[in-house]
Amino acid sequence: MSTATKTLATARAVAQRTGPAGWVMRSVVSAHAAVILAQPVFAGVYLSGDFDALGWHATGANIVTSLGYVQLVVAVVAWVRLRRPGLFLGTLGLVAAETVQYVAGMDGALWLHLPLGVLTITGLIGQFVAVWLRPLPRTARDADDRPEATDE
Ligand code: HEM
Repeated sequence: MSTATKTLATARAVAQRTGPAGWVMRSVVSAHAAVILAQPVFAGVYLSGDFDALGWHATGANIVTSLGYVQLVVAVVAWVRLRRPGLFLGTLGLVAAETVQYVAGMDGALWLHLPLGVLTITGLIGQFVAVWLRPLPRTARDADDRPEATDE
C-alpha cells in the first residue's frame, strides 16, 4: 500500500469516527434513557404499597423532563452542525410526549399516563439504539458523504 493510499485510508477512518457533537448527543440520550427506565420501576413500587416511591417517581419525572430539554438543545446544535433534522424531530416528539406525560401524572389521568409512558420509553430506547448503532458524522460534509448516518 502506497503512502498516499495509507493517508487516505487513515483520513477516511477518522472521518467515520463519531465527533464531539455526536458524543455529547450519545451521552445525553443515554442518561435520559437510564433515568426514564427507572420510572415504571418506581411506579410499580408505589402501586405495591410503598408510598415513598411516588416521591422518587416525581423526582425522576423532574430529571427526565429536564434531560429532555437538554437533549432538545443538543439536538438543535447537532442539526445546525450536521444538517440532519432526524434527531431533532425525534427529540421534539419525545419532549412533547414527556410534557403531556408529566401533566397526566399530576392529574392522575392513568388511562393516558400509562400507555404514553410505555410509548415514550419505547421511543427513547429507539433513539438510544439509533445514536449508538453507527458512528455519528463529525461535520455536515461528512454527513453528506454518509446520508444514512444520522437519520433514525
Ligand atoms: C411506563 C412508565 C410510567 C408509569 C407506569 C407511571 C405510573 C405512574 C403512576 C401509577 C402514578 C401515580 C398516579 C396517581 O397516584 O394518581 C404516576 C404519577 C406521576 N408520574 Fe408517572 N409513570 C410512568 C412514567 C412517567 C414519566 C416518564 C414521567 C415524566 C415525564 C412521569 C411523571 C409522573 C408525575 C409527575 C406523576 C405525579 C407525581 C405526584 O403526584 O407527585 N411518569 N405515574
